[in-house]
Amino acid sequence: MHDLSKHNTLALKVVADKVECFTSETALQALLATGAAADSLILGGGSNCVLPPVIHQPVLIPALRGIRVLQETTDQVLIEVAAGENWNDLVWYTLQQHWYGLENLVAIPGWAGAAPVQNIGAYGVEIKECLHSVRLLSLKNGSSEERLAEDCGLAYRDSVFKNQERDNWLIVAIRLWLRRTPLLRLDYGEIRQQLQMMHCTDPGPLEVAQAIQTIRQRKLPDPEQLPNVGSFFKNPWLDKEQVDQLLQQFPDLPHYPQEGRIKLPAAWLIERCGLKGQQNNGVGCAAQHALVVVNYKAQQNTQREVLDWVQQVQTAVQQRFGVWLDVEPRVYVPTA
Ligand code: EPU
Repeated sequence: MHDLSKHNTLALKVVADKVECFTSETALQALLATGAAADSLILGGGSNCVLPPVIHQPVLIPALRGIRVLQETTDQVLIEVAAGENWNDLVWYTLQQHWYGLENLVAIPGWAGAAPVQNIGAYGVEIKECLHSVRLLSLKNGSSEERLAEDCGLAYRDSVFKNQERDNWLIVAIRLWLRRTPLLRLDYGEIRQQLQMMHCTDPGPLEVAQAIQTIRQRKLPDPEQLPNVGSFFKNPWLDKEQVDQLLQQFPDLPHYPQEGRIKLPAAWLIERCGLKGQQNNGVGCAAQHALVVVNYKAQQNTQREVLDWVQQVQTAVQQRFGVWLDVEPRVYVPTA
C-alpha cells in the first residue's frame, strides 16, 4: 500500500495498491507498450484532483524533467518542457531567460504536463495563447504522437484531455512559443492597482509576475498551509436573457460579457448564499476566497467529506440563483 495523502494538495487520505514514478520517458514508454498500464491513473502535482480513499488501478507519476530550446527566431523561442517540471518554477525560469508570455500564469500550483489538460488560466491569460503542441504517449500501447494546440480543444478550463480523449493519453511534454519582446497584459482586475502599490510606473514582465504573485498570495489560501486545489468551481457562462432576468432580482450581480455570452463569478454566487468561510465536517469554502474549497482536516478527511460540501454549495446556488456550478478539478470515482 502506498500513502498518497501528501501527493494531493487537498491532503485527502488516499492509499494506492501500486505507484510507479518515472524519471525516464523511455522506461515509461516501455511499460505502456506492454499494455499493462492501460487503465492507470496519472498523477502529476496532485493539485487539480479529488482522489478516492483507495485506488486499485496502477498510479503513474510522470516525473520527467528538462527544458530545452527547439527553435529560435528573432522574435520568438519555441521550448519543450517535460511533464514533471514544476509550473511556477518554469514561469520564473523563462523570465530569467528573457522569454515572455507566462508572466500572468505565475504561482499556479502543479506540473507542466497538466497545464493543457484544463487550459490553465489566470489574470486574463490562458496557456492556449502560447501552447504550440503537446507530446503524447498512448496509455493503451505506448505509441507516441505530437498533437498541435489547435487540435487539443482548448477552451475555458477545458480540453479534449478532460472529455473525449480522457484516459487515452499521457502528456510527456509541452511545447510553448514564448516572445523575446514583452507584450504586457495588465487589464485583469487588480494588476494595475497592485503595480501602483509597488510604486512601479514602468513595469516589465518580471514586475507583472511579482504583482500577480502578491495578489494571489493575498487572495488564495496556500495549499501548503490550508489544503485546496485552487478554484473548485468553474465560473458559469450564461445567455444574456438569463443574466437579464437575474439582474432584475440581483441588480448588483457582477457579470462579464465575453465572446457572445456572459460569465458570472461563481465566488460571488457562493458568497451570496452565505457559504464563504463556512464549513461542514472540516471541509468548507475559504474565508479568503469563496471559490476555493479547503480541507481543515488534512490526512483525515476523504473524498466523501469534500463531495458532500461541494453538493451543499451546488444545491444552495442552484436554489437561490437557478445556476448550476460545474466542478473544475477531476473527481476520480472509486474503482471496484
Ligand atoms: N468574488 C466574490 N467573493 C469572493 C471572491 C471573489 O464575490 O470571495 C467575486 C468578485 O466580484 C470578483 C470576482 O468574484 O470580482 C472574480 O474574482 P477573482 O478575480 O478572484 O477571479 P475568479 O473568477 O474567482 C478566476 C480563476 C482563478 C484565477 C482568477 C484570476 C476560475 C474558475 N478561476 O477566479 O483560477 O486565479 O480568475 O484570473 O476561472 C484556479 O483555477 O484554480 C484559479 C485560482
